[in-house]
Amino acid sequence: MIVVLETPRLRLRELEPDDLEPLLEVLGDAAAMRYYPAPFGPAQVRGWIAWARDSYRTNGFGLWAVVRRSDGRFLGDCGPMLQPVEGRLIPEIGYHIVRPEQGNGYATEAARACREWVFEHTDHDVVCSLVSPENLPSRAVAAKVHTAMREFIWEKHSRVMCLYWTDRMLRSADSTTPTSRSRSS
Ligand SMILES: CC(C)(COP(=O)(O)OP(=O)(O)OC[C@H]1O[C@@H](n2cnc3c(N)ncnc32)[C@H](O)[C@@H]1OP(=O)(O)O)[C@@H](O)C(=O)NCCC(=O)NCCS
Repeated sequence: MIVVLETPRLRLRELEPDDLEPLLEVLGDAAAMRYYPAPFGPAQVRGWIAWARDSYRTNGFGLWAVVRRSDGRFLGDCGPMLQPVEGRLIPEIGYHIVRPEQGNGYATEAARACREWVFEHTDHDVVCSLVSPENLPSRAVAAKVHTAMREFIWEKHSRVMCLYWTDRMLRSADSTTPTSRSRSS
């Protein structure tokens, strides 16, 4: 298992094929996925994990598993994936947390740590999160992680999205600094 970073409560590690079932708890949940076209089935979750693992190999980062350190509970995923934004490829921090564990600040803690990880481990000067305007919980998280927001038409799906972003030079010192950034097996 490759651990990427730790925060006071969370461990972020690389997703593995065996994470199919726990990831289905969130990506297959119709209520949690109501801002997506449809909840995912097992084949889509398998593809999601493969997409993340391909990004680890190609870019050195990707969506990671979020696990609670105190008891090993699988909480969801969070991490940067390169996305096209107005002609540039920018690390976009996405997050999904299983429904029973939502509202505990886990997505915010994980996403802030991912933001810092990108600035410390890559040359990218901007990180962002792309959120549907009606997805208020996700917008609340993005507003706490990033420093600016505007609406735009995202070229990937030709629809209006909220673009939240943080510039390396302008970020504030509010972050939940990861307590460990080692990559270990
Ligand atoms: C978005 C999501 C990851 C948030 O996870 P979480 O661990 O509950 O997030 P946090 O606890 O860190 O923060 C949640 C925030 O949303 C707010 N929130 C929750 N429901 C809300 C609602 N209906 N309207 C407005 N704000 C809401 C909470 O008050 C909290 O903000 P606050 O701390 O300022 O009060 C989770 O809801 C989820 O998995 N949703 C489904 C997947 C998804 O949409 N992912 C984002 C794709 S862009």
